[in-house]
Amino acid sequence: MKKKFIIAGNWKMNKTTSESISFIKELNTKLGRIKNNINFENLEILIFPPYTSLFPLKDISSPVSIGAQNIFYEDKGAFTGEISPAMIKEIAGYVLIGHSERRELFGEKDENINKKIKASFNADLIPVLCVGETLSERESGNTFKKIERQLSADLDGITPEQIDKLYIAYEPIWAIGTGKTATPELAQEVHAFIKEKIESITGSQYDRPILYGGSVKPDNCKNLLGEKDINGVLIGGASLKVDSFFDIIENSLELVE
Ligand code: PGA
Repeated sequence: MKKKFIIAGNWKMNKTTSESISFIKELNTKLGRIKNNINFENLEILIFPPYTSLFPLKDISSPVSIGAQNIFYEDKGAFTGEISPAMIKEIAGYVLIGHSERRELFGEKDENINKKIKASFNADLIPVLCVGETLSERESGNTFKKIERQLSADLDGITPEQIDKLYIAYEPIWAIGTGKTATPELAQEVHAFIKEKIESITGSQYDRPILYGGSVKPDNCKNLLGEKDINGVLIGGASLKVDSFFDIIENSLELVE
């Protein structure tokens, strides 16, 4: 099945500015070699580097888009250490919201995630909302209940027009950084559920990409992307090395429309 999709890398707290610059230059060189085989209209490559690397990467000409890993929901003010949506908008077009590491390690609650999504839209940023279940939630048969609860709370008060611009990443927590990937069938089942749930909220067809994240590697990306409702991948560990990130792109090219 040929389609449009997104290959995104979440670098988390990795890479100094100079390491980020070297990565993008090397990736550009590799992409340049296969550029005749890539339709960048239908394949979007996106990197979420640390804040410190956003500005230097913006100034390097590349087919790769960039986004921030987080924002605060206020416009400006006395919030030491925080970064506002407007500050990101000058540099990048996307922002990850509600990654499970933010939720689990930094105590981010759905209420704040909801405010961050609203703030992203106010600043004209595209939020990429991450949702996913823990291992115990999966094992106790509560995967759909968890995803449904997250979507309802995180999207509370967001208009259907805004939801239509939102990207969603399904990232089962038990698969993040563990080497355990959800099978394509299992991920597809949740993606179909997310699509259905969003459509029931907005009352119209949801055509935005739903990304899968959790131990995506060069050898499993194509099978995952081959599923009907998996329209992108969000890659942590394997996005840190140019070779593995590039291999994921190259291995998926056959599926690009
Ligand atoms: P991983 O991380 O690919 O290292 O499992 C994915 C993510 O956290 O986005």
